[in-house]
This record gives sequence, structure tokens and C-alpha cells, in this order.
Amino acid sequence: MIRQETIDSAVKALFGEIKFTDEPAGLYDPLRYMIAIGGKRLRPKLCLTTYSLYKSEFGPEILEPAAGLEVFHSFTLIHDDIMDRSPLRRGVDTVWKKWDPDTAILSGDVMCIDSYSRIAKAPKEVLSDVLALFSKTAAEVCDGQQYDMEFESRDDVTMDEYMRMIGLKTGVLIACAAKMGALIAGAPELDCESLYGYGYNLGLAFQVADDYLDAYGDEKVFGKPIGGDIVNSKKSWLTIRAIEKADAPHRSALIDKMRSPADSKEEKAAKIAWVKSFYDNYGVAEDAKQTILDLTAKALEAAAKVCEGERYERLRIFADKLVGRTK
Ligand code: IPE
Ligand code: IPE
Ligand code: MG
Ligand code: MG
Ligand code: MG
Repeated sequence: MIRQETIDSAVKALFGEIKFTDEPAGLYDPLRYMIAIGGKRLRPKLCLTTYSLYKSEFGPEILEPAAGLEVFHSFTLIHDDIMDRSPLRRGVDTVWKKWDPDTAILSGDVMCIDSYSRIAKAPKEVLSDVLALFSKTAAEVCDGQQYDMEFESRDDVTMDEYMRMIGLKTGVLIACAAKMGALIAGAPELDCESLYGYGYNLGLAFQVADDYLDAYGDEKVFGKPIGGDIVNSKKSWLTIRAIEKADAPHRSALIDKMRSPADSKEEKAAKIAWVKSFYDNYGVAEDAKQTILDLTAKALEAAAKVCEGERYERLRIFADKLVGRTK
């Protein structure tokens, strides 16, 4: 098993040596910017973590695909920020805001392509499985993003539909990261499947936490504007749960408020305050925290099928860190 410190330093060094194409700068500067502004590097970290369970050292056959996962994730964020009209990411201007939406579209496209060429560096014995997994995942993320947008204008979204939507937009990429590390390490098929389940449930917990932090986080730590989901009438976990819990008249008041536009700074602040006090009345933040714990426990059940002792402990610590996240 590879040591934890080796994983941490590999994640830190991941983009140190990678050079992206220079010209045209208008296309590649936003890509470099997006990678340079950081982020938690969760997906490559997970991919290297599952790989570490089976192997004794890292080489380019895993480091390049791990970097590819982060480039792909960063690409989805660039396009997501256009779709969500979000001005702030990782504590700084989003790409569409710093440059313009057209630039953000094309730089995002080239990042998607770049991610494929890195994933394709997987060893040839597993290459077709790795590419099939990644392509399926990438299409599912698009499916999830489309449902996310469609849900903005629907008032009858159920919790089941919401969970399926976040499984697609967020769960599958984290699941793919966990499985890809194992696949490239040559792990048995059953392990690969269980690790996919581990990542998928962690991904669900991660998105519920993201929705919670979008309303209750600290903007300086979270790096994204607080209340963005409310302003954009997003069906977040909190909204769906509040709709589930409220009685009929209250439910329509929430739906009306969520639908109402908020353009000025004052209107946005008032809408956010109104909706958050509604959430508070129904205790939905506490429910979200419980759901994050439940989903994490489910992830660990899957992990327990793969390993025990020190190796299981590694997966448990990884999951635990996500539960308490503030960014
Ligand atoms: C943000 O992902 C998008 C979601 C799936 C919630 P991260 O929270 O992993 O973003 P970075 O990479 O750390 O900025
Ligand atoms: C993003 O979900 C999921 C993807 C980018 C695929 P969100 O829209 O909630 O992510 P943030 O909050 O902007 O990071
Ligand atoms: Mg979004
Ligand atoms: Mg967004
Ligand atoms: Mg969010």
C-alpha cells in the first residue's frame, strides 16, 4: 500500500509539471487560470487513494488519468458557472465573468478534450474499460446538468428525482474516480464495483453538503456566493425537503417565493433571508446533516466489502473528511 503522505504530495505535485498549450492564449489562459486557482482536488485524490490500496508506487499510468479527472471536473465547473450565472468560484471571478461566456464555452470544450487525452494514458490492458467508464460518466454528468436546469422551472420535483439528478451531475464522477484508480491498479472486478458504490454514495453526500453550504456556508471559506441556489430558484436538497415537510398553504408560499425573480442586491438578500427562515422553521438543515451521515455510512458499507484493517481505515478517513467539510 502506498503511504498517505505520498498520496498527499502526489496530489499537490499533480499539475506542477504539466504544461498546457501556450497559443492561442485566449483559449488556454482560462484553462491555466482554472487549474491554478486550486480547488480541493477531490477526484484525483480519490482515484490515487483507491489505486494506493493495491499498489506500492505511482507512475504516469495513474497520475495522468488522475489529472484528467480534475481537468474534466474543472471543465464542468466552467460551463456550470455560465448555466448557474455564478460570478464567484474558488474565491475568485468565474471564467465567464473574468473573460466572457464565449471564451468560457470554448476553453471548457478544450479542457474536456484535454481530459480525454490524459485518461487515454491508462495502461493498454485496461484502456478500453477505462475509456468506456469515463465516456459513460461524462455523458451522465450532462444528463444530470440538464435535469438540474429543468428542475428550476418545475414545482413537483420529488426527493427521488432529486437524488437521481445529483447522482448524475455529481455522484457518477466521484464514483468513476474511485473505480478508475482500482481498475488501473488491476483490482478484481468485484472490488471495482464496490468502490464505484463507495464513490457514488460519497458523491451524493458531497452534493447534499454542497446544497447545505450554498445556504449556510461562509462565502470566504466556501469560495462561492452564499444563497446562489435560492436566487436562481434551484431545487436544492433543502428546497425539496422543505416542500416535503410543509403543509399545503406554506408549501405554495415557498414555491411562489422560489419562483419570484430577484435582480437587485436588496431583492436577492431579501429572497435569501425569507427562504432560509422558512428552512429554519422546518429544521431542514438538521435533516440535511443527518442525510449526509446516512449516505456516508452507506458508502462505508460498500468500502467494507473491499477491504479491512489499514486499507479500510484509509477509505473511512477519506469519507470522514468530506462529512465535516466547510468548503
Ligand atoms: C463543486 O465541486 C461542484 C460540485 C459537484 C458540488 P468541488 O466542491 O469539488 O469544487 P472544487 O474543485 O473543490 O472547487
Ligand atoms: C455542479 O452542481 C455539478 C457540476 C458541475 C457537474 P452545482 O451547480 O451545485 O455546483 P456549484 O455549487 O456551482 O459548485
Ligand atoms: Mg449547477
Ligand atoms: Mg453551480
Ligand atoms: Mg452548488
